[in-house]
Amino acid sequence: MDGSGDGEPPSGHQGRGGARTGPGGAAARGARLRAALLQGPPGPARARFWRSPLRGPWLTSVFGVVLLAGIAVVFTTGLLSYAAYNPDLAAVNDTTPDKGLLGFYLFDWPTSPYWLYRLTQGLHVTLGVVLVPVLLAKLWSVIPKLFTWPPVRSAAHALERISLLLLVGGAVFQFATGLLNVQLTYLFPGSFYPLHFYGAWVFISALVVHVALRMRVVVAALGRRRAGRAGEPPAAAHPSPGGSGTGLEATRPAPPTLSRRGALGLVGLGSLTLFAVTAGQSIGGPLRVTALLAPRGRGPGPGPNGFQVNKTTAAVGISASDIGPDWRLTVRGDGGERVFSRPELLEMAQFSAALPIACVEGWSTTDQQWSGIRLADLAALVDAAADDGRAPGVMVESVQQEGAFRAAALRANQVRDPRSLLALRVNGADLSADHGFPARVIVPANPGVHNTKWVERLTFGGLT
Ligand code: HEM
Repeated sequence: MDGSGDGEPPSGHQGRGGARTGPGGAAARGARLRAALLQGPPGPARARFWRSPLRGPWLTSVFGVVLLAGIAVVFTTGLLSYAAYNPDLAAVNDTTPDKGLLGFYLFDWPTSPYWLYRLTQGLHVTLGVVLVPVLLAKLWSVIPKLFTWPPVRSAAHALERISLLLLVGGAVFQFATGLLNVQLTYLFPGSFYPLHFYGAWVFISALVVHVALRMRVVVAALGRRRAGRAGEPPAAAHPSPGGSGTGLEATRPAPPTLSRRGALGLVGLGSLTLFAVTAGQSIGGPLRVTALLAPRGRGPGPGPNGFQVNKTTAAVGISASDIGPDWRLTVRGDGGERVFSRPELLEMAQFSAALPIACVEGWSTTDQQWSGIRLADLAALVDAAADDGRAPGVMVESVQQEGAFRAAALRANQVRDPRSLLALRVNGADLSADHGFPARVIVPANPGVHNTKWVERLTFGGLT
């Protein structure tokens, strides 16, 4: 426990080196003031306030190493998620158009393996949730240092404090915006994407500086443990007050109520519990019912269209007449424009592909059996061809008039994949209205929002 019994030394016992001064007089008052300024205001600024015997470089280092490994995966999969939108292909694909040099790593998103986005985004969200207890524990383990007194000792110290502000602020911001987004709570001032994107770069830059500065402490703390009794963390029951010189240990430790190993176990249990109630939304199968935190339900519901839906017709304002018998698909390319009704599309050669829907919010479905017309065949119908004579990229537009992702551009490699369809049916039945009837796009490894529903226009070519 922290903060208990932070008794101030009685009046007359202050002063460095324990020098006694009388209760009155200017000299005594001056000495008391100097001592108070040195110690900081009563409360968390004083080292004596923090009494948990668990704190120390070993525990902080263990949490740090776990965070480092986890955050490396979360950061990488986050960048992959951005690349999966093919942001450089067309303005409609770019959720962060002012990224500048921060888009240096972008590449053409592949279509194989077809479960790629399901894996990367499932990892990103699941690990982000599972790391929350570790992040909180790490912050708890270093909290006395956030109240360091005096708050700034020198210019170098000021810089270090600013980097810590970016680190702690960045971590809290990234985890909070990510969690709010997957729980469909859009409290952000503006679009989630640029906030989370720029936030990630600020946080990671601060983290790189932090790890570089602290690695020696980590190596020393974990090395000390190896040199000690095998398998034994430093005993919290016998802390060495102020021991390592890092300022993490309590100067006046309270009796332990939990061992350090117990603290690690508790944090591990928290992470494991979050894993158990989250991972099922990405892994699917029998585990889906355990995904208590899944924002799109633990389904599947009944029937061939019973798998999860993100945007419903009602949510985006699509009426029955928009997708009724008068609906037509317009296909444009170098060879002109053709217009098809749904019955005409159903008469064309139909192909099928087993593909999942994988959402940016981390949830995904198992493979669904889609059938419809290959995108490459539709390109051929309007003589659309890239320089190499094969199908070019396509701009896909929906009947949906308002809101994000009503259009998406697909690259040539996506159009050419024989599993990429303008789907008319799923699992042996017509698409339901909420799954994109009369026609929707389905492309392997594509983020869910780019598998445009209620398609009304395909324009082949003219994309980079
Ligand atoms: C979300 C990521 C992280 C946050 C928010 C965070 C935050 C902090 C803060 C605020 C401090 C106190 C700084 C001070 O005044 O000295 C600290 C100390 C420390 N951190 Fe981190 N940290 C993070 C990740 C890591 C990682 C990945 C490692 C190592 C692999 C690490 C290792 C350490 C160590 C060893 C200390 C104590 C060093 C000392 O006081 O000399 N941290 N951390």
